[in-house]
Amino acid sequence: MKHIFQKGSNENERTLLLLHGTGGTENDLLPIAPMIDPSASVLSVRGSVLENGMPRFFRRLAEGVFDEEDLLLRTKELHEFLDQASEQYGFARNRIVAVGYSNGANIAGSLLFHYKDSLHGAVLHHPMVPRRGLKLPDLSQIPVFIGAGGNDPICSPEEMSELENLLKSAGASVTVHWESHGHQLTRTEVDAAAEWYRNLF
Ligand code: MLT
Repeated sequence: MKHIFQKGSNENERTLLLLHGTGGTENDLLPIAPMIDPSASVLSVRGSVLENGMPRFFRRLAEGVFDEEDLLLRTKELHEFLDQASEQYGFARNRIVAVGYSNGANIAGSLLFHYKDSLHGAVLHHPMVPRRGLKLPDLSQIPVFIGAGGNDPICSPEEMSELENLLKSAGASVTVHWESHGHQLTRTEVDAAAEWYRNLF
């Protein structure tokens, strides 16, 4: 997968996995990585699906309606890419904390929903429920931050509660932070995620 890797000063410690929103690239979230953890390594990945020329992490049939078969395939692809990248760059596979926005948050959520040990933690900015009707793996010890917007037309408050409850019932420790804005990623939301991260790791 197309990506950027930046080695952190803390060898073999945490790696932030940056996952952009629809139409973004691996450059988009680079500025927020040092706000969250200045010493972590950074692996920023570009989604390998194109929707009218816009990179995404998996196909969708319509706004908010995911192509489930493609979601499964791309989640596996990303999970395996993390295995391979950790060997290639020599970072700890079990210390990856995802930081995803929108479509990137949804593929991070899908990693959590499908693979027990893929992520060490996750910051999900404006996520959705990636898939319904499956039994989640054991996510105990996995901290998850959800950044949500009270006026977000894509990620409703009901869907945020549903996601929170699904993750919690699999054992994850979930913190939800509310902004009064829409779908955009705001500075105050990133600051809240950074504070959450500092208190945990
Ligand atoms: C998605 O397709 O993942 C969500 O609708 C968010 C978006 O990318 O617009």
